Amino acid sequence: MATEVPYFTNAENGYVPAKLAHRSAASSQPLRLLRFVVNHVIPDTVKFLLQLIPLALSGLVGLVLPSKKKSIHGHTALVTGGANGLGRALCLRLAREGCQVAVVDIDLAGAQRTVEDVRALGVKAEAFLADIANYEAVERMRLEVESKLGPVDVLVNNAGLLAVLSLSEGKPADLERIVNVNLLSHFWTIRTFIDGMKQRQRGYILAVSSILGCLPMPRTVSYVATKFAIRGMMQALQRELTMDGFGEKIVATTLFPTFIATRKELMDLLSELSLDEKLAILTPENVADSAIEGMLRGQVDVYAAPFFIRLFMYLSGILPYALTSLLIQTIMGKVPTLMDRTKKNSSTE
Ligand SMILES: NC(=O)c1ccc[n+]([C@@H]2O[C@H](COP(=O)([O-])OP(=O)(O)OC[C@H]3O[C@@H](n4cnc5c(N)ncnc54)[C@H](O)[C@@H]3O)[C@@H](O)[C@H]2O)c1
Repeated sequence: MATEVPYFTNAENGYVPAKLAHRSAASSQPLRLLRFVVNHVIPDTVKFLLQLIPLALSGLVGLVLPSKKKSIHGHTALVTGGANGLGRALCLRLAREGCQVAVVDIDLAGAQRTVEDVRALGVKAEAFLADIANYEAVERMRLEVESKLGPVDVLVNNAGLLAVLSLSEGKPADLERIVNVNLLSHFWTIRTFIDGMKQRQRGYILAVSSILGCLPMPRTVSYVATKFAIRGMMQALQRELTMDGFGEKIVATTLFPTFIATRKELMDLLSELSLDEKLAILTPENVADSAIEGMLRGQVDVYAAPFFIRLFMYLSGILPYALTSLLIQTIMGKVPTLMDRTKKNSSTE
């Protein structure tokens, strides 16, 4: 049976506009408007306001009383970009939670150094050389990781290129590489590991975005684009997991850190711009602590940032979250999976 193509294209046949659905000419314009208001606008507004109450309450309670922390003792965690910076700190933090750690990087020597430090904490660890921007390399790496450390329960998508590059700078290949490493690698690792998590009914996916995934800073247009994309991808994934009944079992968390003291080049640039005094620069260890604590408490978004930025992000998030939830529930909540559609088509053949 031919596999259904899951996207629409006009490459072969040209673009054929769809006809608008036939609307009954019998009902007059004002009557239609009144019916629309009574049937849709009023119930949806009431639903929206009702939805806002528990959301605001649970958010406020969550700010004061964090939810119960889950244990990942004995789980296998995989961290991309674990050779340096935040990735290294995340490996060590996961080891302290009792995880065995797969350190994945293109810098094998650095990954091995992290492995030694992780092992010193009394847990198993292995280094894996893989360019996560390449899907086949990720698939090969999964087989290696599973044979040495077992199936992955905690996937940390951390590797990323810190690019201060606008769209007319660098070469097109540089821009392509930024998108491949910072965004497409998340597709490949999630695609590779999520089925196992679904089968075992447990898992954590932590994606490292950036505060620039919420606040679009100039001079870093390409980087900002990938970090915004990660935010959207993770929100859609989290809703899909909830819709498919995995909401309580597989946690999808996105991390939004402000600046972290990882690369010397970055610190030099910030001090050149006299930004190092204005910005509260975080340590990789602090950010790793916030990320893993938040993930284990089931948080969807973790802001590793000073208090006022966290409060601002939280308040600016409530309304759009409730609005999009309502829109998705009323309009898009019933989109079937490709598998469901294929089943339906084959049963009508
Ligand atoms: N440093 C900051 O100020 C800051 C702020 C917010 C978010 N972040 C994000 O945190 C993450 C880590 O940043 P960092 O500062 O620790 O970076 P870093 O450059 O210190 O470390 C990144 C690691 O990823 C590895 N890597 C790069 N490309 C890879 C690939 N294709 N396959 C496998 N490994 C690869 C590198 O070898 C390196 O070890 C990134 O996603 C970054 O965007 C950083």
